[in-house]
Amino acid sequence: MSGTSESTMLNPGLDPGVQVARAREDVVVGDEIVRHRLATRVVHWLTALSFFVALFCGLPIFSPLFGWMAPLFGGLAVCRWFHPWSGVAFVAFSAVMFVQWVGEMKLERSEWGWFGTRMVRYLKHQGDDSDAGKYNGGQKIFFWAATLGAIGLLATGTVLWFPESFGQLLRELSIVLHDLVVLLFLVAIVFHIYLGTVAEPGTFGSMTRGTVSKAWARLHHPRWYREVTGDAAHRD
Ligand code: HEM
Repeated sequence: MSGTSESTMLNPGLDPGVQVARAREDVVVGDEIVRHRLATRVVHWLTALSFFVALFCGLPIFSPLFGWMAPLFGGLAVCRWFHPWSGVAFVAFSAVMFVQWVGEMKLERSEWGWFGTRMVRYLKHQGDDSDAGKYNGGQKIFFWAATLGAIGLLATGTVLWFPESFGQLLRELSIVLHDLVVLLFLVAIVFHIYLGTVAEPGTFGSMTRGTVSKAWARLHHPRWYREVTGDAAHRD
């Protein structure tokens, strides 16, 4: 229900933005806009949680350098058993997240520049966001990279889980690729967390409360702001 203010019957004792964000998004509520409904937020956080659980019980298997982490899970033997299952949980949550977001993540022709210099300018806070819709090109690329990464981890992880079922070459290739994908994923996640928290104040609330301020939307995602509010005046 874009372009309208939300004024349906709400519990006056509860925060109106948070109430509307339980089931709906892209809706104006007072000075706020609902960005992520509850179901999307729950799936995002389950994906994030399972990612870090799989990472932390996988690191002691990867190298004795991280052996000190194993007791957190009950020892190395438990890590070896638990890591593939937490990995499966991560891939399953990623799959649900994919279905929830894929419709909004198609890269437009004007966003192809994000594969190059535009991404660098954005990370240096020198980017021009004036035409950004609900997600900018960098976020869309991160979405597709995370999807590819999850598929890569599943494919290579399966080979490592059942080594007797595969040839030596595939096993060796899978070890290298599994570790490489984790490394790339970690680099991307560090930037993702930085951008979603300290770098852009107000963004984190979109994944906790579900809402952002109108000012935040106007600054970072002006086209989405215009679509949701119907306010064509802000074309800066
Ligand atoms: C502590 C860790 C994390 C934090 C603080 C975090 C924070 C956020 C925030 C605030 C958003 C909303 C951005 C917006 O509305 O503009 C978001 C979106 C998203 N998150 Fe995370 N996230 C974390 C971990 C993860 C992990 C582990 C994954 C995937 C493996 C992930 C995948 C995504 C995707 C695909 C989006 C949508 C695209 C985007 O906004 O970049 N997140 N995250």
